[in-house]
Amino acid sequence: MTGTGTTGNDRNSFVYVVAALAALNGLLFGFDTGVISGAMLYIRHTFELATVFGYSMNASLIEGIIVSGAMIGAIIGAALGGRLADRLGRRRLILVGAVVFFVGSFIMAIAPTVEILIVGRIVDGIGVGFASVVGPLYISEISPPKIRGSLVSLNQLTITSGILIAYLVNFAFAAGGEWRWMLGLGMVPAAVLFVGMLFMPESPRWLYEHGRESDAREVLASTRVETQVEDELREIKETIRTESGTLRDLLEPWVRPMLIVGVGLAVFQQVTGINTVMYYAPTILESTGFADTDSILATVGIGVVNVVMTVVAVLLIDRTGRRPLLLVGLAGMSAMLAVLGIAFYLPGLSGAIGWIATGSLMLYVAFFAIGLGPVFWLLISEIYPMEIRGTAMGVVTVVNWAGNLLVSLTFLRLIDIVGQTGTFWLYGALSVLALLFCYRLVPETKGRSLEAIEGDLRETAFGADAGERPQVTETDD
Ligand code: GLC
Repeated sequence: MTGTGTTGNDRNSFVYVVAALAALNGLLFGFDTGVISGAMLYIRHTFELATVFGYSMNASLIEGIIVSGAMIGAIIGAALGGRLADRLGRRRLILVGAVVFFVGSFIMAIAPTVEILIVGRIVDGIGVGFASVVGPLYISEISPPKIRGSLVSLNQLTITSGILIAYLVNFAFAAGGEWRWMLGLGMVPAAVLFVGMLFMPESPRWLYEHGRESDAREVLASTRVETQVEDELREIKETIRTESGTLRDLLEPWVRPMLIVGVGLAVFQQVTGINTVMYYAPTILESTGFADTDSILATVGIGVVNVVMTVVAVLLIDRTGRRPLLLVGLAGMSAMLAVLGIAFYLPGLSGAIGWIATGSLMLYVAFFAIGLGPVFWLLISEIYPMEIRGTAMGVVTVVNWAGNLLVSLTFLRLIDIVGQTGTFWLYGALSVLALLFCYRLVPETKGRSLEAIEGDLRETAFGADAGERPQVTETDD
């Protein structure tokens, strides 16, 4: 826990190392969600997909269970992860998550039966669930306010990189159909995260909340320039109360508006359809007239667009702020979904229309990557009061994974029922709703300390002179 190197002016460069390492949590997330569709093509040939745990089922249902097993695991992981992050500490939960993910990947790689494969998927999903809550949370609390947006968004950058790496790994092992390698490779980032995290500090805010003031000061001293340490510690002291909040505190009237913002963003991030593209891009592209191999290649192209535009978001987010990126991103997504629906409506998707469809699909991903993708994960790590930050993020992340599961399970069926045009227009209409929601309700958090954001929340609810720090757990005083 050393590293006092500075970049010369007002930054301590060690904080970049901490954030980059913790962002490997995102890599586990992205890799896990991106790798399965490719691997599935070959898993089919290894096992006879006829029974699971003694029940006979049809093959596509079993495939569905294998794919969604990780999301169910992630829902469980996120549900437990919030509380655990508050109890165990952020750093320790990251360590636990890396081990769980490693074990899950190992089980999948050696699975002798389909049942064990499913167990592996669920275990690995639990690791992803932990990672998705604690990754952004930890980075947010360890970062200085001015660069917090960029540092937390590194986590979304590694999610998108994880998805892209998964596409490439699938591509690399496709010839031999080596799905065990595809899934087992997840052990590598998990091991790096675990070993690296052993050398990283705990969140100073969590330390202070747990009565470890001198440790908190030490962490601040290793991640800030000297002049900022005491100021930030003072701010933390002024805000943090020593008792931990509970789930019920989330419903306190002064926290409720932010619960609505978090849950709303979680739902909208999923129901506007991004993961239908992440999981089914080859299928969508084939229907625009691409051949098999071209559509796989174009899928890699989509993965690249996603990563590149997330880099743009990382660079912009602390300058423009969160709201402009969110609003521009959502407006763009709505427009592209409208175009996509029209393209699929026209007769004969080949030629120019096929290209328009593909182009709008790529731009849709680009607009997601610059806005709703990173901004959701960032905002939910910023807008909750310290006492319940972990718990609140857990709840919101569960909602996000549940939305993810719902959309990926219903996408193909939805196309059967309302067609591709109807499906994209539905996501488009939901994007417009999301735009209105964000315009009206989402606050700007750029450049403010987590403590100042919390102060605003209290002030809005209680007025400037309602006492500096209203009780979190008791309402009647
Ligand atoms: C966000 C979403 C995730 C999605 C990814 C795509 O992180 O939460 O579900 O797969 O973006 O880039």
